[in-house]
Amino acid sequence: MLGGRRAAFALSFVESALSGTAKTAKLIARSVARLSGRVRAPGDKSISHRALMFGALALGETNVSGLLEGDDVLATAVALRALGAQVEHVGVGLWRIRGFGVGGGREPDNVLDLGNSGTSARLLSGILASHPFTSFMTGDASLRSRPMQRIIDPLSRMGARFHGREGGRMPLAVIGTDEMVPIEYRLPVASAQVKSAILLAGLNTAGETTVIEPEATRDHTERMLRHFGAEVRVDPAEGGGKRITVVGWPELRARDILVPGDPSSAAFAVVAAAIRPGSDVTVENVGVNSLRAGLYETLREMGADIAYENLREVGGEPVADLHVKGGALKGIEVPASRAPTMIDEYPILAVAASCAVGTTRMLGLAELRAKESDRLSSVAAGLAANGIRHEMGADNLVVHGTGAPPDGGGLVKTHLDHRIAMSFLVLGLATREPVAVDDGSPIDTSFPGFAGLMNGLGAKIELA
Ligand code: S3P
Repeated sequence: MLGGRRAAFALSFVESALSGTAKTAKLIARSVARLSGRVRAPGDKSISHRALMFGALALGETNVSGLLEGDDVLATAVALRALGAQVEHVGVGLWRIRGFGVGGGREPDNVLDLGNSGTSARLLSGILASHPFTSFMTGDASLRSRPMQRIIDPLSRMGARFHGREGGRMPLAVIGTDEMVPIEYRLPVASAQVKSAILLAGLNTAGETTVIEPEATRDHTERMLRHFGAEVRVDPAEGGGKRITVVGWPELRARDILVPGDPSSAAFAVVAAAIRPGSDVTVENVGVNSLRAGLYETLREMGADIAYENLREVGGEPVADLHVKGGALKGIEVPASRAPTMIDEYPILAVAASCAVGTTRMLGLAELRAKESDRLSSVAAGLAANGIRHEMGADNLVVHGTGAPPDGGGLVKTHLDHRIAMSFLVLGLATREPVAVDDGSPIDTSFPGFAGLMNGLGAKIELA
């Protein structure tokens, strides 16, 4: 995990040079017999962003512990400072925020550079749109290519205006208003980011703002809204799904937050252990909210030996230590209905599938094309580069495993996508030839210290 110095350095680094200047780093992973040991998962990225944002929207002092000090979350911290919040780093994972209150942000005096972070961009849009000033957002090449129309549509209906590039892409000007009108909005895509942007805008909107989600997505925003004292109702929606309503103009009260470990980051160590027979690894402090834990359910269906130990509650979220023993896996069909609960985990699931006996069919993956890269294509290209038989459809991926170690030997293009980099490095722990990734630097967006943590379990990941 990060030292305080790295975090302080990273914050100033992110402030001064978020886009484009970071050096690329080619990494290589070599096969190992087995992994063993205990590690602690880094803080949850989704919850860390929200902890900073809610701290900024509350009055008083919010203390956060276990915050993920990855570049994405630091980008949120820098943006909130530009809006007038005091965001202070006080120790490893410990941050103190003095908020400006709902609707109390000030006009940022420069462009907000959100680096690689889609969560920062989408969630902050909801805050910016509901303030009576104009702000500008940009990011790295990956973020500038990602769809923002999905937040522009509902926030425009509420009264904000936007100017972006073709397809609503960033750089994006947000012309906000403090006279937002409440809406009832049915999500056209299963997206917690879009849901959260609307709910955050709804905070500085008179009356009740409602989001209808046909498919349940991660509910950290709803949980944290309640934690900070907002009134949120969740009811069944007509025809299925949920109606989530937030009552505008609450006085959010500063609250302390304990951030649990990130199941999406823990996934790499868990799969690495699951695909190396004889491995025995425990990843401590992993959030197992059922709206995030689809990968673990899937791995168990594939025959993985994963136990939830010491199940408890941390900061209002269910948390467990995941104890994994390596062994044989078998191919299965992963239904489309599971996608929202494991949307970030398909690249690492594809790695597990490559090492399984038989065929794994992953369905309902259209949203993977809108991530840090077109993840469906990035995964397929990485599998091809390493001699793994697969077929990619418009919204599905089929991977054929034989149970024997895959060939490996490929150089995988990461396309500024941290999860592609980490997934294929995990693949290299189980292939006949080493696997290289052209650029491991995006790993710091969500999992600083990834290679060190994995190598501590016995992996061999190094600069190429
Ligand atoms: C996130 C939601 C997901 C996920 C992302 C984090 C969040 O994105 O992929 O990494 O924190 O709300 P979508 O809402 O676009 O599915």
